[in-house]
Parts: sequence; C-alpha cells; structure tokens
Amino acid sequence: MKVYPKNRTWNWLDTFLFIVRTTWVSFNVMNVLPLFTNPTAKLLLLIWFFCLYICPYIFYRPGYIKFHYYLITEFLLTGSMFLFLIIEFYKAGPDILEVMIFPILTISFVSQYRPLNWISPIVSMVILILGIYFGHFYNNIGIIGRIIDIFIFYGFGFALGKVTEMSRSRKELIDSIQIKNNTLEQYAKRIEELTIIEERNRVSQDLHDTVGHIFTSVITSLDALPYLIKENREEAEQYIKEISNLARKGLDDVRHTIHQLSPLEENQSLSEMFTCIIEDFNKHTGTKVDFQIQGSERDIGERIKYTLTRCLQESLTNAKRHGLANQIMIHIHFLCENIVLKIKDNGIGSRKIKPGFGLNSMNDRLTSNGGSFQIVSKPKSGTEITCLIPLPKEEIDDL
Ligand SMILES: Nc1ncnc2c1ncn2[C@@H]1O[C@H](COP(=O)(O)OP(=O)(O)OP(=O)(O)O)[C@@H](O)[C@H]1O
Ligand SMILES: [Mg+2]
Repeated sequence: MKVYPKNRTWNWLDTFLFIVRTTWVSFNVMNVLPLFTNPTAKLLLLIWFFCLYICPYIFYRPGYIKFHYYLITEFLLTGSMFLFLIIEFYKAGPDILEVMIFPILTISFVSQYRPLNWISPIVSMVILILGIYFGHFYNNIGIIGRIIDIFIFYGFGFALGKVTEMSRSRKELIDSIQIKNNTLEQYAKRIEELTIIEERNRVSQDLHDTVGHIFTSVITSLDALPYLIKENREEAEQYIKEISNLARKGLDDVRHTIHQLSPLEENQSLSEMFTCIIEDFNKHTGTKVDFQIQGSERDIGERIKYTLTRCLQESLTNAKRHGLANQIMIHIHFLCENIVLKIKDNGIGSRKIKPGFGLNSMNDRLTSNGGSFQIVSKPKSGTEITCLIPLPKEEIDDL
C-alpha cells in the first residue's frame, strides 16, 4: 500500500494552487459581501472567508505539509461556506455550485494516496449532494452540467497531483541512487586503501623474514670464518663459497619479494620446505635442529604452507639472534582440524617478550589464516613458540 511520503516538500504547483485560491477567495468576497446589508453579517462573513482562506493553509505551507489536517479544515470551513451560500442564494440557480470548483481542484490535487484518495471523493460527493438538496436543484436539468464541471475539475486536480508525485518519487529515486553511488565509491576507495596497506605489510613482512633470516645465517658464518682460515684454509675457501651462495639465495628471495612473487617453491610439501630451511640454517649457523612430524602429512594449501614457513624462518632467526641457542626442536602436528607448529630453543630466553616487527608479523599472518600464536619464554629455559592454524573444511573432509 502506498502511504503519504513524510518528506513531501512545497513545489511550484502548490504555489500555483495557492494563487488560484487567493483569486477565488477575493472574487467571492467582492461578489458575496455586497449582497449583505447588515454590517455584523458582513463582518462575520468576512471573518469566515478569512478563516477558510488561511486555516487550511496552516497545515499546507512551505516547510510544514500535513494533508490530513488540511483536508479536515478545508472540508469544514469551505464546505460549510458552500452550503451556507447555497441556502442563502439558491434562487440564483445551479450555477452557485461552481463556488466549489476551485477548492475541489486543490482537494483532489493533494488526495493521492490511501486513505485520502477515497475519503476525499466521498466527502466531496456528500457535500455536493447536500448542496443539491439544500438548493432544491434535484429537479433542475442544469445541475448536470455543473456536476460534470466539478467532476472534470476533480479529475484535473487529481492528474496534476499524480504527475507531481511521480516526479517527486523519481527525484527521490535518483537521489537515493546518487547516495548509494557515493557510498559505493567510498567503499571502493577504502578497499583500495586497505589492499595497498595489506600488500605493503605483506612485502615488508616478507623482506623482514627473508633478509633477517639470511643475514643471521651469513653473519654467524662470517663470525666463524677467521678461526676456520687459521685451521684449514681449503675448508675455509669452500665455506666462503657457501656463504656467497647463501647471500645469493637471499638476494633471489628479496628479488622475488620485490616482484611480489612467492619466494617459496610451489608443489613442495611442507616437510620438504622445512627440511630445506632447516638444513641451510644448520649448515650456516652450526645450530643443531631437530625436526619431527606427528600425524600423517597432507596437503594444506600454499597459503598455510607459506605462513608456516615464514613463522619457522623468523623463529629460527630469533632463536639464534636473541636466544643464542645451539639447539632447536621443531615439531609439526597434523591434527584433524588444525595444524600445530612448535619451535622450542634452548637459548637464554627472556623474562619479558616485547613483540617487535617479527613476532607481530607472525601473529598477523596466523590470525589472517584464522589461527593463533603463542610465545612462552623463561630466562635460562629457552623459548617456545606455538603456531596453530585451522585447516580448511575440504582438507578435513578429505581425511
Ligand atoms: N627465541 C628467543 N629467545 C629470546 N628472546 C626472544 C626470542 N624470540 C624473541 N625474543 C624477544 O622478543 C623480542 C621481539 O622479537 P621480534 O622478532 O618481534 O623482534 P626483533 O627480532 O627484536 O626484531 P625484528 O623486528 O627484526 O624481528 C626480541 O627483541 C627478543 O627480546
Ligand atoms: Mg625477530
């Protein structure tokens, strides 16, 4: 059901109808008042005309439009004036009915929606019938023409109102589309910004993990070099080549990251990736790394593999850099719904861990996979990191 719009605003047709009304009231005042000789009657009539001119428009004016109240006052004041004039001047014949023509125009103009669109014609009809009755026009053939005039004006006013309503709803629709467009544009901009931020974070995290990991290995290897040169020159030369290869690999990783490509080799299983990283790390830092897998290994998808590999790299780097560990335990547990990675070192530990870029990146990566991150560290007891990632449903179903 269509209801009256709450935000109906004053438009130029309303102004036009108000001008018509002003003309109609002035015309009637000028013609009717001289017919009365009694000054009191004249004054009362003038007040009545003034009221019927002003009162309905108290509820139908720019900034305040309440059609229900307008119609009530219009029917009461103008309708009663109409009947009064008929009773007083019925001898003038059915032409007197035309007094109602202009008010009818406005009444039908505003009666567009339910229930006004059926109440207004009924009330108008009742007033008209009363007018015919009080004027004793039922036997007068000329009444038909006047009734037709009133119907025509009612239809004309209603059509004008319909056109106004249609253009108003079209304007409203265009406005709401405009608002939606603006909102969409804002969303698109926001998504663009977020994508840029996410991508920048990804690249900086990748650079941090790869560069940090490789440099830690290179520095530890270089630290050991002076002793090796003294003891065994040939082995030291071989070692230098390895350090150079390691640095080259690091450069490749950085290049891959800059070109926004995954530096990890695809189609490798998680355990293969881990083994590669662990072997390299062991070779260049001399740290003993123990690697265990529990549960049957299965495909967990590139994204999770990538996340866990980055967590491993950062944990190994931290264990060496901060913990000065010489032994690290790595444990992967394939569970039904999760995969859990634990990295435990025998380093110096820390009383209070204040997460930096590395740990925060690990946390971000894990939470963006719906997982969680935990670090427990005690002075002299080493540090243990636990990474948990829920496995995608299809992976679980494949079990
Ligand atoms: N295995 C560990 N043993 C001892 N302390 C650790 C270990 N891992 C982390 N920490 C402590 O936690 C802190 C935060 O580590 P995090 O990796 O976030 O930052 P960072 O290594 O200092 O710098 P970067 O941002 O380059 O990684 C470290 O400064 C260190 O004090
Ligand atoms: Mg770190």
